[in-house]
Amino acid sequence: MELKITCIPGDGIGPEIVREAKKVLDKVAQLYGHEIKYKDILMGGASIDVHGVPLTEEAVADAKAADAVLMGSIGGDTTTSPWYQLPPNLRPEAGLLSIRKALNLFANLRPAVLYEELADACPLKAEISAKGFDMLIMRELTGGLYFGERKTVEENGIRKAIDTLTYDENEIRRIAIKGFDIARKRRKKVTSVDKANVLDSSRLWRAVVEEVAKDYPDVALEHMLVDNCAMQLVKDPAQFDVILTENMFGDILSDEASMVTGSIGMLSSASLNDTKFGLYEPSHGSAPDIAGKDIANPIATILSAAMMLRYSFDLDKEADAVEAAVKEVLREGYRTSDIMSEGCEEVSCSKMGDLLVERLHK
Ligand code: IPM
Ligand code: MG
Repeated sequence: MELKITCIPGDGIGPEIVREAKKVLDKVAQLYGHEIKYKDILMGGASIDVHGVPLTEEAVADAKAADAVLMGSIGGDTTTSPWYQLPPNLRPEAGLLSIRKALNLFANLRPAVLYEELADACPLKAEISAKGFDMLIMRELTGGLYFGERKTVEENGIRKAIDTLTYDENEIRRIAIKGFDIARKRRKKVTSVDKANVLDSSRLWRAVVEEVAKDYPDVALEHMLVDNCAMQLVKDPAQFDVILTENMFGDILSDEASMVTGSIGMLSSASLNDTKFGLYEPSHGSAPDIAGKDIANPIATILSAAMMLRYSFDLDKEADAVEAAVKEVLREGYRTSDIMSEGCEEVSCSKMGDLLVERLHK
């Protein structure tokens, strides 16, 4: 089949990791007889440097014209990069928020898996990590605090900042449905995370999630307060299957969950709308400190490309093959520096890409 993929190499390590993901996708195409048409667009700092804005309308149009978007990472060092001298709506992150909104990518899937081969990297006590874990955070991505009205004012000489957290029931319902649908394909458990003991938006969240749950009698639902969830993630991560939560809680909890795996360089993500279209990106950031050194871990981006094959193109066998290649390379003891451990062989970003291409079989 023909796969139209728009790529956003972005900033920092973004271009290096996207390059490796393309190598792997090209090998998939060659093995399975597909044709990939790539188009690169600028976003984040890379776009600011050329166009003065983090995302142009043309770039959005190019993204919309594709079947799926593969992204590296955007942003720079917030203390030293000139991008952060710009007004907030012109900084790199604004580009990412805008493209999510423009493409209506309301569902953000962030798996956090403890790889058997990397169990040593898990920072938790051995008796906890021994149980392993495999959870998926379903984060609402286009509503809530990150998209509400905000302003900074001065009243009687006192500076005051206001951010608004709004959700309507439709926004909650559609993400809840995505959460239950995916739970059905996994271990059939949804933990809905909120702060219903304080926030109205959370009380509505809980009520709507309860309504949606009625259509999924085969899926177990539990509610958990976000502060407790933060604690449970380090105490007993194995209890979680699908964590369903709003934008900001999902932002924070997904970073925590990825750290608990000990290998954030391994974690992929997908941002989906109501069609097969999606934007796929690693869960990690742009790591400007190691950019251009060919030492970044490309695996999260490569696994994001596998998610793309699975969710946007229904190419499950191809996605399985990519995931199997990752497992094989890890089993053979190859590691990038972020996941290096004793007795393993340290390889560069590009070498990791080459190894994965070699290990990819039909
Ligand atoms: C993420 C990032 C973004 C977010 C930032 C860069 C706006 O932290 O994808 O988790 O908060 O959504
Ligand atoms: Mg984040």
